[in-house]
Amino acid sequence: AARTRDDLRCPVVVIMGHVDTGKTKLLDKIRKTNVQEGEAGGITQQIGATYFEKSTLLTQTAKLNETEKFELTLPGMLVIDTPGHESFTNLRSRGSSLCDVAILVVDLMHGLEQQTIESLHMLRKRGTPFVIALNKVDRCYNWVTCKDSPIRDALKVQSDGTLQEFRSRASDAKVQLQEQGVNSNIYWEMGDDDWTNSDFVPIVPTSAITGEGVQDILLLLCQISERKLWRQLMWCANLQCTVLEVKAIDGLGMTVDCLVVNGYLREGDKAVFCTLDGPIVAEIRGLLTPPPSREMRIKSEYIHHKEIKGALGVKVIGNGLEKVMAGTPVMVVGPDDEVEDIKAEVMSD
Ligand code: GTP
Ligand code: MG
Ligand code: NA
Repeated sequence: AARTRDDLRCPVVVIMGHVDTGKTKLLDKIRKTNVQEGEAGGITQQIGATYFEKSTLLTQTAKLNETEKFELTLPGMLVIDTPGHESFTNLRSRGSSLCDVAILVVDLMHGLEQQTIESLHMLRKRGTPFVIALNKVDRCYNWVTCKDSPIRDALKVQSDGTLQEFRSRASDAKVQLQEQGVNSNIYWEMGDDDWTNSDFVPIVPTSAITGEGVQDILLLLCQISERKLWRQLMWCANLQCTVLEVKAIDGLGMTVDCLVVNGYLREGDKAVFCTLDGPIVAEIRGLLTPPPSREMRIKSEYIHHKEIKGALGVKVIGNGLEKVMAGTPVMVVGPDDEVEDIKAEVMSD
């Protein structure tokens, strides 16, 4: 079938930034979960994946969209969470290499920090479009909570002093970004042309705790995806699949968390994986996902699938997967393929 603008896949969105800027909390807010509080030391140590259905995107942007009136055609959104701790550069690099668009989270109280800058460089090297979540606005002095509301509505009810602090901190962040060679602006102060056609980076003030601005960041990501990235989001039948993590799960044995960006992965497929000892062929015995709006790295009531259509994160079950390497591609041996050709192709990537 021809690839068309009417058959877009989910955009893959990666969340990056310095440790403790609120990346996981931001996802918790959208998921209505509490993943962050269960993390050892409150620190993320793995790549995560959460699928949001279109209906979730619609309800969580409804208030803002009363005025924006944006027609959502995306089937959903897949969000990859990454660790901000300095020792996980490899995971940030993996996350940034897999995504269509990124959220760079900056703590409004701290401005740009070391891993913010590292993340910036990763995104710019690949030319990945990104938005900045200027998070923790609720920590401005005397902030009046406007739970989950669009950020402009929330700013309207703040006192002059609070607004002054917000503006001064936001302006400091802009200057720091400029020092890194990044032009940015508060997103509603940009003309439509600025964020769809130029390399100006939109800033969205958010609170992951009280929820102000979360509607804005979701809607902005949808708009960027549909208006700017639609060509690369046209669904394509060729399998494009990468290993995110390899881990043992009680009762399931060794599982391979994969990101299927395009194409299908099906139960019974003969798949080729890269291992420390070279390529292996394994039959896919099971395909599991968490329910929508649930983090894949948290054990849950997994849903069993006969087939997975990209873009989606999936836990693959099979024999002999112990030595599969994270970050490597997965391919499927088709009816007309030679296994040896596919093995060579997988290892050459
Ligand atoms: P790593 O994954 O370890 O890099 O951290 P992270 O960026 O995922 O940050 P996390 O979600 O773990 O949040 C760090 C701390 O900041 C937690 O104590 C959160 O409760 C707090 N926090 C996150 N977002 C906000 C916010 O918007 N407002 C306030 N007041 N606190 C926040
Ligand atoms: Mg985290
Ligand atoms: Na943290």
